[in-house]
Amino acid sequence: MTVNMSEKNVIVTGAGGGIGRATSLKLAEAGANLVLVDFNDELVAQTLELVKAVGVNAITIHADVTKDEEVKNYVEVSVNEFGTIDGFYNNAGIEGKIGPVAELDKNDWDKVVAVNLTGVYLGMRYVLPVMIAQGSGSVVCTGSIASTLGLPQTIAYNAAKHGVAGIVRTAAAEVAKDGVRVNAVAPGMINTRMLHDIAGHLIPGMDKKEAAKIAAQGASPMGRLGEPEEIANVVRFLLSDESSFMTGAIVAVDGGTTCTASNDG
Ligand code: NAI
Repeated sequence: MTVNMSEKNVIVTGAGGGIGRATSLKLAEAGANLVLVDFNDELVAQTLELVKAVGVNAITIHADVTKDEEVKNYVEVSVNEFGTIDGFYNNAGIEGKIGPVAELDKNDWDKVVAVNLTGVYLGMRYVLPVMIAQGSGSVVCTGSIASTLGLPQTIAYNAAKHGVAGIVRTAAAEVAKDGVRVNAVAPGMINTRMLHDIAGHLIPGMDKKEAAKIAAQGASPMGRLGEPEEIANVVRFLLSDESSFMTGAIVAVDGGTTCTASNDG
């Protein structure tokens, strides 16, 4: 039986992207009402169409997660529209410029940290007071294998994703007494636009999707790409009451990438 999310109101950021869209759909299939947040209006409109076809209530809100006022606004609009915020998938992220730290300009560092770290903090800053007042709620942030492993050529991304683990553990400890849970999903290499672009950069001259498949072969004991739906299943579980004794967890969904130093089998 599928997880039951009926009568739950859930905000998803980065809802136009690969993982955000797959998660929005899984949540809709479980009956959740959705607030779909993204700064890419075209992509998020496509997600809205897909979740509406499932038959749940859903709206889109244009917001840049790095902007304090826009985050505050999407939280206020969500409460006005649905009354409660039962789940928050704090997911929007970018890969930023790929390259060695010795050549990374501060501007490129700032861009990644603004979305992947400050954006995650801002979401918590405005959603948590609502959940604390309700005495309930579940937050899931998107970490990464980069939350625990060093990954050459991704210093800003890596630092920000390590930071996400810190945000999750600290916030979880603060709000547990208020009935609010905070966890992270930590995906491995997942078949989305982001990974295609990274792999295309690391293996130049090859079709990006093919490059992603090849990169994934050596990256985990399972030796394959993960699909966004495989992340979505875990996020939905963490947002639901099925995970009621989980908080402060960084849940690896990575085909075993972080379980061993050797992927040779
Ligand atoms: P994606 O590029 O398909 O989706 C990201 C979404 O976030 C896009 O719709 C984009 O418009 C939105 N977004 C970016 N910056 C934003 C901003 N400032 N304000 C509002 N929306 C913004 O990428 P994907 O793969 O779905 O990534 C989702 C999350 O998963 C990210 O946090 C990423 O770091 C994380 N992740 C992805 C992995 C992968 O292999 N694809 C692996 C590990 C983590």
